[in-house]
Amino acid sequence: MAPRHQAPKGTFDILPADEAARALVAEHSARLLDAAGFGRIETPAFEDTELFTRGVGESTDIVSKEMFSFSDRADRPLTLRPEGTAPICRAYVEHGMHKDPQPVKLWYAGPFFRAENPQKGRYRQFNQVGAEAIGTDSPLADAELIVLLDEFLRGLGILQLELRLSSLGSPTTRAAYREELRDYLREHEGELSSEVRSRIDSNPLRAFDSDHEGTRAVVASAPTLLERLEGEDAEHFAAVRRLLDAAGVPYRLDPALVRGLDYYTRTVFEFTCDSLGAQSGVGGGGRYDGLVEMLGGPPTPAIGWAAGVERILLAMAETPPWARPEVFVVCGDGDAAFDLTLELRRHRISAQFDLAGRAFKGQMKQADRSGARFAVILELDGSAKLREMESGDQREVDPAELPAVVIAAREA
Ligand code: HAM
Repeated sequence: MAPRHQAPKGTFDILPADEAARALVAEHSARLLDAAGFGRIETPAFEDTELFTRGVGESTDIVSKEMFSFSDRADRPLTLRPEGTAPICRAYVEHGMHKDPQPVKLWYAGPFFRAENPQKGRYRQFNQVGAEAIGTDSPLADAELIVLLDEFLRGLGILQLELRLSSLGSPTTRAAYREELRDYLREHEGELSSEVRSRIDSNPLRAFDSDHEGTRAVVASAPTLLERLEGEDAEHFAAVRRLLDAAGVPYRLDPALVRGLDYYTRTVFEFTCDSLGAQSGVGGGGRYDGLVEMLGGPPTPAIGWAAGVERILLAMAETPPWARPEVFVVCGDGDAAFDLTLELRRHRISAQFDLAGRAFKGQMKQADRSGARFAVILELDGSAKLREMESGDQREVDPAELPAVVIAAREA
């Protein structure tokens, strides 16, 4: 018998049964990004290798270890694209898009290639959906893009998300900070992993990314770049945070957020979903104000993100859209239940209420059946109680404070 072949390590076949979920993600991407004014762009699956060595950075894992590179018959070095931002900036310059009204907003979807060690959620060929706004330095663009990614993921039913946010400042702030960090790491050289030690000079920031116990202990008390932001960098970051707060998108400041690409400046962010295990990054991105110029274009600030389709599909499988609500609103007055349910949802609390005109007892039964963690019992006199369904514990709460009370109770 002839030997049987298998799909290469870290790759997979997409079978007819897998297509429906993928089509849903594709339609959702197109609908959301088209409506937000992004035009779709498609670039080749491979590029000149130099685009990535220059654009993404020689010392990154992606360039130093993970590229599928080859040469054509004329010995031109080529590489299967490991990411989409450098190719899009290449296309922006090549097609003179800097002469168009700015910013130029582009989105893309397709396969990317990294020679990583495969595991759940980490493959050698995977798909990304991405969006880039090129030609704007406004913090409004940072906020717009982050809110868009939040909407993109939530719209697919992925609810258990955490947004980690940081700023890398400008290249000068970063250079000064790098020096400070190098000195600090050298003082603790003996406690670091050999990999981090060997990169103290080339890429000290990667120490924050290490799983090595000794290294983690050292970086826990290292100075952070966020503490060193000043002037316009600090103002920019404060504006982004203010806009996210106003949009009601919660985030955690993470001074140790290191993205594995060298082109970032100022804002960086990543959405993680804990249920995914080790590969929890569903989507991320940031500003790359120097990349277009580095690739031969005029100085052009820009920001964007990419999300991994396979990780999205895994996360969607973990949180089915019919997941139980967090709160069931019980109230004799349908209009009041409607108002409160919408108010809770505006605070990202999944909430339901009775639509069948049930009496109080029937609504309580319905709350139980829905699997909700809490029932809010809203009395006709305007008072309210929060009931923990499992224990039956119940307490008076101020209806105006309900979203905050539920969020606090969630963590209790
Ligand atoms: P990235 O964080 O390297 O960013 O990748 C974006 C997303 O692609 C990750 O959050 C993850 O979901 C998915 N991903 C990455 N590697 C793999 C893999 N080996 N297997 C499965 N999924 C993976 C970028 O690529 C930047 N170009 C994002 C960006 C756009 N920054 C600015 N604009």
